[in-house]
Amino acid sequence: MERRSFLKITGASAAAVVIAPSLITQRLYAEDGLSLYESYEKVHLKDADGNPLKASTLQPEVNYVFNFPHIATPCILVDLGRPANKDVKLTADDGTEYLFKGGVGKNGSIVAYSAICPHQLTHPTPDDSFFQYLERKGKTLALPDAKEAGIFVCSSHLSAFDPVNGGKAIAGPATEGLTQIVLEIDENDELWAVGALGPNRFHDYMDAFKPEFKKYYENKRKAKRLVKEEAKVVMLKQFTKKIIQY
Ligand code: FES
Repeated sequence: MERRSFLKITGASAAAVVIAPSLITQRLYAEDGLSLYESYEKVHLKDADGNPLKASTLQPEVNYVFNFPHIATPCILVDLGRPANKDVKLTADDGTEYLFKGGVGKNGSIVAYSAICPHQLTHPTPDDSFFQYLERKGKTLALPDAKEAGIFVCSSHLSAFDPVNGGKAIAGPATEGLTQIVLEIDENDELWAVGALGPNRFHDYMDAFKPEFKKYYENKRKAKRLVKEEAKVVMLKQFTKKIIQY
């Protein structure tokens, strides 16, 4: 995939969904008349030291990165510092409807999205990131007249996505929203990733970045492996050398 000077191809993210863990199944979404949900092996999110990540320890409006569901598919986890909306209906480009249930955590403010931009698959890499959550007091060319940000911005071509409303595309060339990463929180305040909801680009992504996979993961086969048991969560500024945001 071609990269332009500042229009780069980097990451994506996913939205968290609050529903009882036992109800998070493909069947539930089918019974709701909804689709576009894929369940994966339940993955325990761990901090940089390998300890279970507690929801209450997340710093508000900070980008945290973990890879899920594949070894090489980055996601961004954020405590938005305000509750996400519940039961937001979204529509994929093919007309399929799906439902964002809201955030997890005490205030329903914690969400996660696949960090692969729906437009041209820009995503964070260890070298740079043109894709990230922009705090509310931040400024972006994607929405120059907005009073506040609090959105995901892909600075490759200035698409913006609303994390409060399921990652809905709100500016720029992207027509579909971000893929939501379905989270669970347990009685110990620990976070788990269990599935992906909404149109996802994992297959296209795997086909598009072979040289990158060779650089970071040895080869595509290793990059494509599903994450098992646990995923390490680090701040974006630790994950990547350079954060680019317009
Ligand atoms: S790749 Fe994200 S806006 Fe184009």
